[in-house]
Amino acid sequence: MTSMNEIITSRRTIYKFTEKSVPKDVVNQALEAASNAPCHKHTHPWKFYSIGEKSKNMLIPEITRLAKIKAEKRGTEDVQKALDRAVKKIISAPVLFAVTSKLSPNDPFREKEDYAATVCALHNMVLSFWSNGVGSLWSTGAITRGEETYHILGIDTKKEEIIGFVRAGYPESTPTVRKPSYQEILIDLE
Ligand SMILES: Cc1cc2nc3c(=O)[nH]c(=O)nc-3n(C[C@H](O)[C@H](O)[C@H](O)COP(=O)(O)O)c2cc1C
Repeated sequence: MTSMNEIITSRRTIYKFTEKSVPKDVVNQALEAASNAPCHKHTHPWKFYSIGEKSKNMLIPEITRLAKIKAEKRGTEDVQKALDRAVKKIISAPVLFAVTSKLSPNDPFREKEDYAATVCALHNMVLSFWSNGVGSLWSTGAITRGEETYHILGIDTKKEEIIGFVRAGYPESTPTVRKPSYQEILIDLE
């Protein structure tokens, strides 16, 4: 059996997924893991919007619009190819969630603590997926920030903030990333 530490240290962000679908019980396990995240004052500030086929399709015009702006800014030669790639990247993920955290405009400290708790919940989901061989990518591109996305997904911009999309699926490949050693991050005070 893989130890918790091995799951944590072997996890990598996955950028390409196979077409194999992720079983419902694996997704539900990941949601349960998310729900068990630590959370000061038990505010449970997170929500996980599962983006199904219909909602994915509704996002396509907005993904295309944003990708076009980016491509034009960069002077990309083959704009159509860039647009197709941008759409495919998001739409083809077997599992797609928008993760939100509760906003507290009148209490910045609460909002900061809630954001921290939602990050824990999101990462619990990622680790649970990984423990079942499912990879994921937390993304914060323009599509996760635009008002149109909130509108399409039925999220109130005044009440919740999308802290990212989580794409998940079985990895096509797993990248290698150099991480700082524990000695590099430790400040050992006497
Ligand atoms: C808050 C946050 C936002 C991220 N947003 C993106 C993103 O928009 N696009 C992307 O390709 N990766 C994104 N990532 C993934 C990081 O690029 C990735 O974690 C980093 O390269 C380290 O690799 P690892 O996750 O395999 O350790 C994000 C990660 C975090 C924590």
